[in-house]
Amino acid sequence: MRVLLTAAELASGIERLAAEVGRDARGTPLMVVGVLTGSIVIVADLIRRLDGPVSVSMAWASSYRGTATEPGSLELHLDLLPDLAGQDVLVVDDIFDTGRTMEAIVVALEERGAARVRSLVLLRKQGRGEVAMEPDFVGFEIPDVFVVGYGLDFDGTFRQLDHVAALDAADIAAARAAHSPSRSPDPPSCAP
Ligand code: IMP
Ligand code: MG
Repeated sequence: MRVLLTAAELASGIERLAAEVGRDARGTPLMVVGVLTGSIVIVADLIRRLDGPVSVSMAWASSYRGTATEPGSLELHLDLLPDLAGQDVLVVDDIFDTGRTMEAIVVALEERGAARVRSLVLLRKQGRGEVAMEPDFVGFEIPDVFVVGYGLDFDGTFRQLDHVAALDAADIAAARAAHSPSRSPDPPSCAP
């Protein structure tokens, strides 16, 4: 595993993101909508850096890659959300890869009557975008590698790391063997 972003780098990135969000919100009440499960660490750190009125809610999204299930299928569960009518919303996710998850959530929240929907991601993978939208706030641009830690998982593991690390093919094979010895060495699936 190769460390891409240390805990200190992540902390200063979150500080910078919070300042950008604060400048943009200008004191307007903000509803932060975290995308489960990968955003939990970012949301926890970000909201404690935000000044001004903030409320927090969660949406759940799951996207699948490779041979995990049908490629590209995306499942959204928005039933935990309160009434968004007239609200300024900030959607927070761990990573913008193809962008399909963020795009779908932003559209869904606009359809629910949010006054304004902004998007924030900790990481954006370079050269992977498949949608027209760009996230409004990006913590770090990263190369096209599979990353774990600070909320991001591989097969449900590694979310607890205080840093972001890149997994190479050998790491992935070793993690598979350690966590699910009966499984075949498929490419990584992107769990929520
Ligand atoms: P997108 O819809 O392709 O932008 O994918 C976004 C979702 O895929 C993220 O919320 C993550 O759950 C997952 N994902 C994409 N790349 C990675 C990665 O490198 N590590 C862990 N999860 C990832
Ligand atoms: Mg996710």
